Amino acid sequence: MIELRDLLPEDEERLFQWRGEPDVARWMSDADVSGREAHRAWFDQLRGDPDLRGWMILSNGRPAGLLTLTGLAGHHRRAAWNWFIGDREARGRGVGRAAQVLGLDQAFGALGLHKVWAEVLADNDAAMKVQTGAGFRREGYLRGHVLKDGEPRDVVMLGILAEEWAALAPAARRNLTDAGLIAA
Ligand SMILES: CC(C)(COP(=O)(O)OP(=O)(O)OC[C@H]1O[C@@H](n2cnc3c(N)ncnc32)[C@H](O)[C@@H]1OP(=O)(O)O)[C@@H](O)C(=O)NCCC(=O)NCCS
Repeated sequence: MIELRDLLPEDEERLFQWRGEPDVARWMSDADVSGREAHRAWFDQLRGDPDLRGWMILSNGRPAGLLTLTGLAGHHRRAAWNWFIGDREARGRGVGRAAQVLGLDQAFGALGLHKVWAEVLADNDAAMKVQTGAGFRREGYLRGHVLKDGEPRDVVMLGILAEEWAALAPAARRNLTDAGLIAA
């Protein structure tokens, strides 16, 4: 069973470990994780700043990953999606696909957003597959847009609108409830 829960103070340490893991860090399009202090400041912001929202992704009650939305305070009613499955045992088993449905429901439901968008490194096949599979559409291609270890990397812009998710969500939810992956 996959769930999202609010972040708790004790998540800070786990998230520091996960963000530093090569299999996570290599796919993050923002700056590399700096030191512990910067991580703590980021975590405090995630829990306290109304512009951001973060959830722990749980798989059978165990922390498996992180999902964040950024830009909530802006007047465009859109937010940037960032996520990772930090527990490597949980990757590639459908946890991300299920968490994504729950996250998009939060974004377009409780948070009342109009759009969710994401920057994905162009060679991140797993993220491209799972995000486009849920209905994110490709909106742009930015060449040499970020530096990873000093090397320029291409980025794909993805986006999904509220009305698109409204059309796709019932079937997406049904697939997951039928499989016992999310609560009905
Ligand atoms: C991207 C990520 C969040 C996806 O979550 P996940 O739980 O591993 O993905 P799922 O198991 O739900 O798989 C979803 C789909 O992607 C496919 N997929 C998973 N890993 C893949 C890979 N390495 N290459 C290609 N496709 C892959 C699955 O086959 C599945 O497709 P299906 O539904 O047709 O079977 C996760 O792999 C991850 O955290 N990766 C590292 C960090 C990262 O890339 N974050 C995103 C930054 S934009």
